[in-house]
Amino acid sequence: MKLLDGKLVADQIKSEIARDVKENFLDKGFDAPHIAAVLVGEDPASMTYVSAKEKACHEVGFVSSVYRYPSNITREKLLEVVDFLNADDEIHGFIVQLPLPGHIDEQKIIERIDPLKDVDGFHPVNIGKMVLNLPCFLPATPLGIITLLDRCGIETAGKHVVVLGRSHIVGTPVSILLSRKADPGNATVTICHSFSKDIPAIAARADILIVAMGKLGFVTPEMVKQDAVVIDVGVHRVPSTETKSGFRLKGDVDFDRVSRKCSYITPVPGGVGPMTIVSLLQNTLKAAKKEVI
Ligand code: GUN
Repeated sequence: MKLLDGKLVADQIKSEIARDVKENFLDKGFDAPHIAAVLVGEDPASMTYVSAKEKACHEVGFVSSVYRYPSNITREKLLEVVDFLNADDEIHGFIVQLPLPGHIDEQKIIERIDPLKDVDGFHPVNIGKMVLNLPCFLPATPLGIITLLDRCGIETAGKHVVVLGRSHIVGTPVSILLSRKADPGNATVTICHSFSKDIPAIAARADILIVAMGKLGFVTPEMVKQDAVVIDVGVHRVPSTETKSGFRLKGDVDFDRVSRKCSYITPVPGGVGPMTIVSLLQNTLKAAKKEVI
C-alpha cells in the first residue's frame, strides 16, 4: 500500500504558485491575486476551512479578505454583498462558504455570483461548461482529486471508477470530470447514492473508489477490490485522548483495515483536504490571469 500524500503534492503546487505570483505579478508591478471569502455564522467546520484558506493564501503571496456576517443576515443583504464583490475590480475571485443558514436559499446566492469570479466553480454556468469540457472554474475538491491522481501517476483511462455520494460539491462533479474525454478522465464511472442497491457489491468492483458520503468508517475491506485505489473525502472529528485538542480527524474509510488491501489510499487528514485548498488557489490564479472568459 502506498499513501497518496495530498499534503506533499499540495506543498509542491503551492511552491509553483508562489513562484508564479512573484514572476508574473509582483516582479512586473501588478497587484497579487486577491480572493475574498464570505463567512456567515459560526459553524466550526466552516470557520476552520476559511482560516485554512486564508493561511494558504498568505503562503503563496495572495491577498485574502474575509467578510463575516452573523447567521441572522437577510437574503437581501447577502445578495448585496455578492453584488459588491462582483463589482469590486480589486477582487479577482470570491467564495461564499457553505452551508448557509436555513432561511437563505443557497442556490439563489450562488446564481448571483459572477461566473468569472466564481472560483468555487459552483455557478450553473461553470457546471455547464465543466460538462461540455470548456474552460471554466472546476469545483475545488473534485479538481484536487483529479490533480492528485494525475501527479501521483495513477491512470484513469479505461478504469472503473465508483463514486459513493452524489453531492453537488463532490460526488456529482467528480463523476462528470472522470468520465469526460480528457486526461485525467476517460473512465467508466458508476455513482452510488441513497437509493442504490447493494453498494458494497458495486464498490467492490471499482478500480478507483471515491468515497464522499459523510459516514464515518463506512468503507470496510469487503467493499474494496484487492489493489484498488481508494480516495477518502470524508472528514469527521472523533474524540481522542491522544491529542491536545481532544479530537482527531477520521474519514469515511476504515483506514487501518482497508489500507492493507488497496494499492493506494489517501489518509485523513493529509489527503484530499490539502488538495482542495490548493485547487482554490489554482482557480484564483486563473481568475487573476483572466484565463477563464
Ligand atoms: N463547504 C464545504 N466545502 C466547500 C467548498 O469547497 N466551498 C464552499 N464555498 N463551501 C464549502
